[in-house]
Amino acid sequence: MTGRLAGKVAIVTGAGSRNEGIGNGRAAAILFGREGAKVLCVDANAGAAETTVEMIAGEGGTASSFVADVTSGEQCRAMVGAAIERYGRLDILDNNVGIGSRGTVLDISEDEWDLVMAVNVKGMMLASRAAIPAMIESGEGGAIVNIASIAALRPRGLTAYGTSKGAVIALTRSMAVDHAKDGIRVNCIAPGPVYTPMVYAAGMADELRERRKNASLLKVEGTGWDIGYAALYLCSEEARYVTGVVLPVDGGVTISGPAR
Ligand SMILES: NC(=O)c1ccc[n+]([C@@H]2O[C@H](COP(=O)([O-])OP(=O)(O)OC[C@H]3O[C@@H](n4cnc5c(N)ncnc54)[C@H](O)[C@@H]3O)[C@@H](O)[C@H]2O)c1
Repeated sequence: MTGRLAGKVAIVTGAGSRNEGIGNGRAAAILFGREGAKVLCVDANAGAAETTVEMIAGEGGTASSFVADVTSGEQCRAMVGAAIERYGRLDILDNNVGIGSRGTVLDISEDEWDLVMAVNVKGMMLASRAAIPAMIESGEGGAIVNIASIAALRPRGLTAYGTSKGAVIALTRSMAVDHAKDGIRVNCIAPGPVYTPMVYAAGMADELRERRKNASLLKVEGTGWDIGYAALYLCSEEARYVTGVVLPVDGGVTISGPAR
């Protein structure tokens, strides 16, 4: 532990992951804890959040779990209340919850479209709306990181999902403008096809896994840790001059084209 977040209190939404797998949220929560933050691990799945807490505590860090559905404004307010009650302040919010969706506008039902927008976009708005006053109250500003996706930058058949992540980018830039005066930096990460439980839980053929890896210029398979380290940087003092950015963490997928 080098203490890059010493004295800070962080909320990570979607901090759970299936089984022992390392998703983007769990990785960020563990890295925040390793760097000295007290971490509130929020998830709709109590057991998943608790597993992350045990992982942080096992390394000597401080964390606790909180069960909330981020599509509820009331539960988002309760989540922030728990951070304040347990740790006394709030400095960092990692808006990591997101759900996938495949297909075109011709394939998707209205209900699925509404659910994707509610979880992926409204959830980040509600969590931010609950967190920002607490960050202001803490007196030292804060840092928010929103997890988007390269699906918003390089669309490939995930139309509702990509649209929701495009909204996450616009939300990030808008909040960065709105809350700079409060000393709150708001940035966004656009992960590439990282190998996390979100994508392999339902099973992934070796051939597809290899294809995802080889989509990157670097021919490297991304993991939750790659996204967690980016979140750690954006939430640390090292990024004190950085706000409103969209950081692709994708091994160069978004700038790769057909071989010449
Ligand atoms: N894995 C990838 O390839 C990839 C690529 C681009 C972007 N992302 C983004 O990364 C983020 C999450 O990735 P992950 O690997 O941590 O996913 P994950 O599926 O491992 O974990 C997400 C967690 O969110 C929780 N959750 C879902 N809906 C919730 C809700 N309404 N309220 C509270 N918790 C809820 C789930 O219980 C789960 O534990 C998402 O925003 C996703 O869109 C992932």
